[in-house]
Amino acid sequence: MPLPRHEAAPAKLNLCLHVTGRRPDGYHLLDSLVVFLDLGDRVTVAPGPLSLSLTGPFAQGLAAEPDNLCLRAARLAGREARITLEKNLPLASGIGGGSADAAAVLRALDARPERPEVLGADLPACLASLPVRMQGLGEILTPLPPLPDLHVLLVNPGRGLATPAVFKALAQRENPPLPEPLPDFPDAGTLIAFLHGCRNDLETPAIALMPEIAHCLAAIRAEGAALARMSGSGATCFGLFASAAAAQAARARIAGANPGWWVAASGLAPAKL
Ligand code: C5P
Repeated sequence: MPLPRHEAAPAKLNLCLHVTGRRPDGYHLLDSLVVFLDLGDRVTVAPGPLSLSLTGPFAQGLAAEPDNLCLRAARLAGREARITLEKNLPLASGIGGGSADAAAVLRALDARPERPEVLGADLPACLASLPVRMQGLGEILTPLPPLPDLHVLLVNPGRGLATPAVFKALAQRENPPLPEPLPDFPDAGTLIAFLHGCRNDLETPAIALMPEIAHCLAAIRAEGAALARMSGSGATCFGLFASAAAAQAARARIAGANPGWWVAASGLAPAKL
């Protein structure tokens, strides 16, 4: 394998996330449509003993400790490498940062451990980094048919939210799954109409823990988004817009009015990384 090697770690977005049950061990069963965005962190691996350096706008919040997911990924693969992580995504924010980073390390090392999900429920989806329906705890993946272009606005209130706390705050753990089979999504209108019939079941408990999430959703709706929803266990919310220009204009206005928030606009990641 030629090193150093650079890998994109695209942000993941849960277009919907249904919590359909809970196993006796406390983990939740999910049914979610997951896509990847044209923005994210960046990982570089070079030869050398196992180490991690952090760069990028969100590096400060993250310590290069042994339990960092990048280091855990390399250890799971049984490999040594000098890893550099450019942390562009906010931490603990529902858009997959840690899992995306660990998946990028595994891709960069050409390593495919048998059970990547031990690093996190989003790991299998992030390894694929393609639009998927995600079920089970996150390990059952079905590729989605080709999706229309989406123009996405991301809004994060500037604070992280711990995933276990959000699952714990769920009032109702057995909710209806997505329809079977899924329909085709020939255009954005069809997909968005379908998504309006779906949910993120973690949104209500996340808002109860962090009311700013409701403010982010209100700001996205006020910009005329065709859909406004939270991703993952939050706190990042997203809006779907009719054009990239509309998403960019909304980004500029929301960022201008809310200096403490992280706001970004993006399309979907290219089909092949
Ligand atoms: O797998 P990940 O590290 O993302 O999970 C963080 C926490 O979220 C878990 O410890 C668990 O509390 C909760 N979780 C869950 N069911 C899932 C995924 C995560 O209850 N399918």
